[in-house]
Amino acid sequence: MNIIKSIITCAFVSIFALSSTVLNAQTYAKNGMVVSSDNGSSAVGADILQKGGNAIDAAVATAFSLAVTHPSAGNIGGGGFIVFMNSEGKTTTIDFREKAPLAATNDMYLDDDGQLIAGINHETAKAIGVPGTVAGLYYAHSKYGKLPWATVLQPAVDQAKNGFLFNWSLFNAATYFTTEGNGSTFMDGYFRNEEGTIIQPNETWKQPALAETLILIRDNGRDGFYKGKTAKKIVDFMKKNDGIISKKDLIKYEAVEREPIKGTYKGYDIYSMPPPSSGGVALVEMMNLMELADLKTLEFNSAGHLHLVAEAMRRAFADRAEHLGDPDFNLNMPLDKLLSKEFAKNRFQEINMAKASVSDSSKFGRLYDSENTTHLSTMDKDGNAVSMTYTLEYSYGSQLGSKDLGFIFNNEMGDFNPQPGITKSNGQIGTAPNLVEPEKRMLSSMTPTIVGKNGKPYLIIGSPGGRTIINTVFQTVLNVLEFDMRIDKAIEALKIHHQWLPDHIIYEKYLMSPDTRKALEAMGHTLKERNNMGALMGITYDSEKKLFTGASDSSQPDSGAVGY
Ligand code: GLY
Repeated sequence: MNIIKSIITCAFVSIFALSSTVLNAQTYAKNGMVVSSDNGSSAVGADILQKGGNAIDAAVATAFSLAVTHPSAGNIGGGGFIVFMNSEGKTTTIDFREKAPLAATNDMYLDDDGQLIAGINHETAKAIGVPGTVAGLYYAHSKYGKLPWATVLQPAVDQAKNGFLFNWSLFNAATYFTTEGNGSTFMDGYFRNEEGTIIQPNETWKQPALAETLILIRDNGRDGFYKGKTAKKIVDFMKKNDGIISKKDLIKYEAVEREPIKGTYKGYDIYSMPPPSSGGVALVEMMNLMELADLKTLEFNSAGHLHLVAEAMRRAFADRAEHLGDPDFNLNMPLDKLLSKEFAKNRFQEINMAKASVSDSSKFGRLYDSENTTHLSTMDKDGNAVSMTYTLEYSYGSQLGSKDLGFIFNNEMGDFNPQPGITKSNGQIGTAPNLVEPEKRMLSSMTPTIVGKNGKPYLIIGSPGGRTIINTVFQTVLNVLEFDMRIDKAIEALKIHHQWLPDHIIYEKYLMSPDTRKALEAMGHTLKERNNMGALMGITYDSEKKLFTGASDSSQPDSGAVGY
């Protein structure tokens, strides 16, 4: 079956833009692999690898392609993170998280009485952060890519200009926005052809305005977005819609290269994203705790195992809320302490293996982040690997955009703590590290991760899912390293989520037995079910056999792993 899939995959590479074949199961390859939320975009990345591109070229090409095929989260109007490990095991990260505009203030979402104005930080042009994706991809390619920029951009230009087959996920979104959406006129017109008719499944969807925007980026690099015609249109849009992003914001925006967060687990090296993401710190904290447990006596998915996992999550998320924010504004975050094995030992001793702890609601916590982000993993024949997660925050971001530009703006400002000093029982928090300040990056949960074995990339993994990202990545990494699962099994296995506050475990419906639920409730846990969490896109690499194994989450039916 898998051999057949590989054959289909090879054929698929050459017809990438035209097929709606679903390849979201495990795929093997000998020369390289790309996994993303859209199998056509994965095929774009695999094609770039075949043309001699490296993992960075493939990631950049796939990311621009997703801006065409997966506009709910693939984007040039948002931001994200890359973790890159080269074939020698040297690892770095690129931070292209959005920034607060220069005119932003920490009370910009409050009324005259100091109360938060409902929806303002998510549903208006004031929710738009200065986009980072184009700067981040340009930085990554300029420093680490191999093929010419224009070669890497061209597939996305072609997909936008000539169109690609409209899939059912897009059609469902089109139906939603044209019937029961929140009235966004931009989204109402978004999925229509030139005659104004909604595109139907398997019809070709062309996006001429987006193609023009991508052509300017192809021909002028970073400046094709942050300067010139596109920048002018962005600023005009802001002026018309009460947004605050200025020409100066766009010119000043820079992606930043940062040292990765590094941890270890039983001989493996874990590299993940540092602040302004909270993902890497929380992941390493939880892996350190799990390393102290006798997991041979706590069988996978037993109540004892899930209790321990939930208690690890509770503690990592409490630390996240208290300490983490943009490192350029929070110079004294206690990262060394949070990441140390010694700290994990103290934390581990606090855990009662028969009883749930109580999250102290007099401290911090907040509402769930949005789930609509997207992850891609790439690896090339030389052993370079990229783990990249990027987002618009909500599905289709702010749902605001300009017809002339053809892309959707993020609403990432909603990831800041909106009301200074005010922490509420509904989970809204007001702690200092993540308050709005001009040019600050908002705290994220994205957790693009690479696990190294003997100094080489071994597991490349990440997921969308707001705060659940941290926990779905954590459990997938644990499933592979500790429970020896194949990548597809590790992705599909039961996931739970605890984020300190609200104090409950969310579990994926049907995957936890009624007996296990009862046992967890008897320990004092409150349980809430949910259909699905995350959409993991992963690769494992066997350096002895030189074999890539890719798998994408079946929760995203258009996703796919494509190798060659
Ligand atoms: N907007 C979701 C995140 O960055 O975590």
